[in-house]
This record gives sequence, C-alpha cells and structure tokens, in this order.
Amino acid sequence: MPQLDLETISRRFGAVTALDGVSLSLRPGEVHALMGENGAGKSTLIRVLAGLDRPDEGRIMLGGEEIPPGQPAAMREAGLRFIHQELHAVKGLSVAENMHLDHPYPRRAGLVNWGALNAAASEALARLGLETIDPRAPMTDLGPGDQMLVRIASTLIADGDRPAWLYVMDEPTAALTSGESERLFTVIGQLIGQGGGVLYVSHRMPEVLRLADRVTVLRDGRHVSTRPLSETGEARIIEEMTGRDLSALFPPRRSDATPGEVVLRVEQLSAGPLEEATFELRAGEVLGVAGIAGSGRGALLRALVGEQSRSDGTVTLDGRTLNGGPKQAWRGGMAYVPRERRSEGLMLRRAIFENVALPHLSGLARLRYFLDHRRQRRVARDLGGQVQLKAASITQACEELSGGNQQKVLFARALAGAPKVLLLDEPTRGVDIGARSELYRLIRELSDAGLAVVMASSDLPELLGLSDRIAIMRDGRLSEFVEAEGLTEAELLSRFYHLSKEEQAA
Ligand SMILES: Nc1ncnc2c1ncn2[C@@H]1O[C@H](COP(=O)(O)OP(=O)(O)OP(=O)(O)O)[C@@H](O)[C@H]1O
Ligand SMILES: [Mg+2]
Repeated sequence: MPQLDLETISRRFGAVTALDGVSLSLRPGEVHALMGENGAGKSTLIRVLAGLDRPDEGRIMLGGEEIPPGQPAAMREAGLRFIHQELHAVKGLSVAENMHLDHPYPRRAGLVNWGALNAAASEALARLGLETIDPRAPMTDLGPGDQMLVRIASTLIADGDRPAWLYVMDEPTAALTSGESERLFTVIGQLIGQGGGVLYVSHRMPEVLRLADRVTVLRDGRHVSTRPLSETGEARIIEEMTGRDLSALFPPRRSDATPGEVVLRVEQLSAGPLEEATFELRAGEVLGVAGIAGSGRGALLRALVGEQSRSDGTVTLDGRTLNGGPKQAWRGGMAYVPRERRSEGLMLRRAIFENVALPHLSGLARLRYFLDHRRQRRVARDLGGQVQLKAASITQACEELSGGNQQKVLFARALAGAPKVLLLDEPTRGVDIGARSELYRLIRELSDAGLAVVMASSDLPELLGLSDRIAIMRDGRLSEFVEAEGLTEAELLSRFYHLSKEEQAA
C-alpha cells in the first residue's frame, strides 16, 4: 500500500480556523499518534479524512492520486476505516446492524442476508475476543465500553474487494476499562503486523508512548511537529502541545487547611447497584471515589444527586434531608458533572450560555431569564473563562465544540449554581493536559474556599493528586476509606482487588 498524504489542509468555521495548512503523511506498518489540546483540530482533520467534511483548501493524495474530497465512499474505497469520537449507537438496531452502518449489508437475491450479516459481525467480534457479545442483541443493551469495542470491531469487517489498510481512531479508549484497552492494543499490534497503518488520537500519554511510531502535534489548527517517538517524549510533546512546561500538574494543598463543618451526611444509602453507603463529607474536603469499572463509582454519584432512585437510606445536605429527586438536590446546593456528556449532560443544539444557565432555573426564573439575556451571558462568559473554555462565542451551539470543551461547559454549569457539594464523574475524561491542569487548579481553589467535592475517577494520579481521602468501592459497596497523602498508585490499585486488613484477619 502506498502512503496517504494530507497536503496543506485548511478548514474554517466562520471566524474559527480549525485547520490551517496542515500536512501529514500516513504510512502502512506504523501507528501515527495525533496529539493536541482540546480544540486543536484533531477531530476536524479526521472528519476531512473521512470525507464527512470538505476542506476549504488542500488535497488528500493516495499514491500520487487525489482522492475526491467530501465523499465518504471514496475514502472507504481507498481502504480507510474510522472510529469517530463520540458516535452513538442507533437505537432499535442490533449489534450486527450497527456494525454495518457504513458497510453495505450482505444481500442474496436482492434481500438482506441476515445470516451473512450476523456471521460477518461475529467474525469481527471474535477478532477482538468479544465472543460473548451476541450480534443479534440490541446495541443499546450493551455498556459503553462494549459499545466502543463493537464499533472498533466493525472496522474489521471484511468488505469484498476493498481491503482496509488504514484505521483511524479518535479517542478509542476514552470509555474503555484498562482490560478492554489492552484488547484494543493487541488488535492494533495485529493490524500493524499485517501491514496496516493506524492514525491514533488520545489524550492518554502512556498509551501514546507505548503505541506510537511517530507523533504529530497540532496546536490551534497548525502543524507543530512530526517526529519519530525515539526523537520525542512526554515532556517535549506536552511542551509542543501547550507551549508550557507542565511538570506540576497538581496544585499543592493549602497547608493551613482545617477541616470544615460537615456539609453532607449519607446514611445507609442504597440505590440500584449501590448498597448501604455511609459517610460524611466536610466543607473543603475532596473525597476521591476509586474502584474498578463496575464497582459502583458512578452509581454512588447518581444516587447522591437523585439521578438514580434510592431504595433506602438518607442524604442530608447542609442540615436538610433530601427527598431523593435531582431538582431538590441541585437547588439545595449540589451540582453534578456526569461522565457521558453527550447522553447525560448537554443540550447539544443549544448555545453554550443556555446550557450553563437553564438547568438552574424554573418557572418564573426561566421567564425572567429569557428577558435578561445580557446578565446570563455575562455569567456564562465569566464561568467559561474560569474553566478556560475555548469557543468562538458563548452563543455557539455545544455540538460545534470539541469534545474536551463540551466537558468544560458542564463544569461551568455545575459552578453556575454556586454549589456547596460538587459531584464529579470522570471529570477529565477526554480533556487535554493543559485544560486538565486548569481544572485541577480550579477544583483546588474551590475546595480551599470551602466547596466539598466527591470525585469518582479511574485515573489514579488524579485521585492521588487531588483527594484528601479516597473511598474504595467494591461490588457496589464503600469498602474502605484511606488517606491520600503518601499513598502510591500501586498501593491504591492493590486495594481495589484485595481484602482489607480486617477482612484478611477475619
Ligand atoms: N461544525 C463546527 N462548527 C463550528 N466550529 C467547529 C465545528 N467543528 C469544529 N469546530 C471548531 O474547530 C476547532 C477544532 O475542533 P476539533 O473538534 O477538531 O478539536 P479536537 O482537537 O478534536 O479537540 P478534542 O480533543 O477536545 O476532541 C474547535 O475550536 C471547534 O470549536
Ligand atoms: Mg476531538
């Protein structure tokens, strides 16, 4: 297979220049990592490459011949396959049908050959070790990790005389557990071994350092560098992405911090998979919630904010017992940043400022809100500034924002109600390292000022770097609380799986 060349690609959206003369070559037999902060232009480049978007300037060449732009079929024909960032499953379709969304359905005598369709899906799933997934099951029955693996598997479906050779993956591991990610890495190794090439976008530095043969950095839509991994490294990549040296990712704790009053009291809370959670949280405290995927981290937060209806127990916020619904929780001073920003969080078609303000309002306030745009916009602009939101203007629709910037809109929304307790579920998933350090600094500042934070995360450095205490969850239960200070990643991880001292003794 000859190499694929992107030549001086530019793409503008109104006043925003998403890509500015970017050139890149992709070769068979190598993993090419594409790095850049949120909004740097990575997904835009991929959409252009997929034919989903037409560049204002530039060409895409395969072996010296131009591929017509803006035509997904032409890109498929050229052997390219895509896993886009944040694509959602089509409801009502089976796993196999979802896997064939951009493949022609196998047919016989003019009719869809369902046997062949399911067989092709099964075969592709098996290559990822996903034999346990039934291709006939509804796609929406699967968890987010499995859905992502299915999408990855769908790029492996053989498609007649048009062999695939270049696999383009935009943050494929963002929703995967480490075990699921390992399966993906094995397949990437196989694809490369068979002469395939991979264009790989991820904000997870360890993955990039492990997988990439070459690394390209984009900044503000411009090409900064393309280097073999042997000639670059973490510090250099970060420096090129951000223009800054980010050796201190986590701001220090305030040394004179004294524990505040108890603001949240949770007793015997059971809800869905969560069982009998009991704890107290003080003003200014950051409680990390750790545990393997499926241990109930997310369920705990959803139960606290009332997104998951409780079967038992009480939650007392600032002396007031909550009735279990989300409205009262938000109004009482709780705020929640969900993990699945597209499905749980944002009104994508609406403007940024509406997304920030609307959930806090009801009835009369809503009416007044529509009459008082100017003030609301100012609030959104201030908060947008605090979270370093990168957008053309606060009237821009959220669907036009890059993935990480959508996350920041949710942060701004949570802060707009001046909460007493902030619940964060995977707060920096898909957020670039520069913005991440800003969010960390912001969380620390707010907690120093008395905000209590509950942060569920799968990112161990983040848990250790920000938390005062860490609650470890196992099988829906809070199994243990540990002080974060002085704890290592290995020690924390070992507690996910192993019995506590008391349990060992028993
Ligand atoms: N349809 C659109 N309309 C207007 N602006 C857009 C549109 N699509 C992208 N942009 C803008 O182009 C810029 C690049 O966005 P892009 O999604 O390519 O970033 P990214 O590098 O993928 O970021 P992330 O890491 O957050 O996913 C951003 O400023 C974004 O707001
Ligand atoms: Mg993106």
